[in-house]
Amino acid sequence: MDDQEEVDVTTRSATENTAGRQLIELMAGFWKTQAVYVATELGIVDRIAAAGRTPTVDLAHRTGTDADALGRLLLFLGSLGVVDGDDTGGYALTRVGELLRTDAPDSMIDHVRIYGSHFYQAWDALSHSLHTGRPAFTRVFGSDLFSYLHQNPDVSLTYERAMTASAPFFAEVPDAFDFSRARRIVDVAGGHGALLDEILKANPGARAVLFDAPDVIEETANRPIATVHADRCERIAGNLFDSVPADGDVYLLSRILHCFDDETCHRILTNCRRAMAPGARLVILERILTKGTGSSLTQGYNLHMLVVLGQGRERDETHYRALLGKAGFAVESLHRLPLESHLLVAVPS
Ligand SMILES: C[S@@+](CC[C@H](N)C(=O)[O-])C[C@H]1O[C@@H](n2cnc3c(N)ncnc32)[C@H](O)[C@@H]1O
Repeated sequence: MDDQEEVDVTTRSATENTAGRQLIELMAGFWKTQAVYVATELGIVDRIAAAGRTPTVDLAHRTGTDADALGRLLLFLGSLGVVDGDDTGGYALTRVGELLRTDAPDSMIDHVRIYGSHFYQAWDALSHSLHTGRPAFTRVFGSDLFSYLHQNPDVSLTYERAMTASAPFFAEVPDAFDFSRARRIVDVAGGHGALLDEILKANPGARAVLFDAPDVIEETANRPIATVHADRCERIAGNLFDSVPADGDVYLLSRILHCFDDETCHRILTNCRRAMAPGARLVILERILTKGTGSSLTQGYNLHMLVVLGQGRERDETHYRALLGKAGFAVESLHRLPLESHLLVAVPS
């Protein structure tokens, strides 16, 4: 076979197989999730980080894994851009791999942990959600996500850290909204306070309140919000369905409304509206659904909210405007943030 003939065969088969290959890769999506998850859980990533480029046999010895199996895992992770190298010269972490180190300041390890375990298992029961409209998570783990986190403090810690790790766009929030004149910023269900941390760092004159469920507030004792910003941030425990801290001039709702159905969102928004000082602003951070097939992350999250929370969903701009209008707010502005997120500012109407 000459060169010309070979090129023709390759080109023809590539064209013929495009759709089939795409489907095969779609169905093998879980390979990637588990390969990355297991590489972190077995300490392989941290060992590479500590030892530098090490031959696979030595790495297997140090991590208690089978050398041939580990070699295959590393080859696959190499093809995914998580590591680079080879068996004999050893493997190093790429920029993506560096995010998986447990000791990295911007580590995404907890994101990997929760997606590779609890969320992965919940998605295995996706058909339950399709049949019933209810959360697969509850079917698999026996209670709804937030109750489960309350009952399992170690998973709750992982979940809250994962939430922080998945929001690098928090750093851009102080540029998207002017907090400089804020007297009392209330972060409603603010988790571990990572968003407030960014806002307070950028606005030395601002004061804030971190509000969340009692066990989550307890978890924040050693977080920057309770150490670095102790003199400027109050931490208040409570239930956002009952009421939220009063007299704030900025209320933050970051990735909260997408956890709940319209009725529950109405209750939360009404509680914020009631608590607000005159002239206050409501700042919402959410992904916003757009028409078409372009925004796969938001479409995926829309389904993910069904799987893990049942009543949760992503919404389009019209839907948010309607929800806000019903609770007595008008949309003042809308800004784009990275990762398909948006910052929406609303005022009492
Ligand atoms: C999806 S996380 C968002 C956390 C944070 N706002 C962020 O963007 O990273 C949802 C938060 O809602 C809190 N939460 C859920 N139910 C709550 C309730 N009834 N009262 C107060 N906080 C609640 C959870 O503890 C969690 O921190």
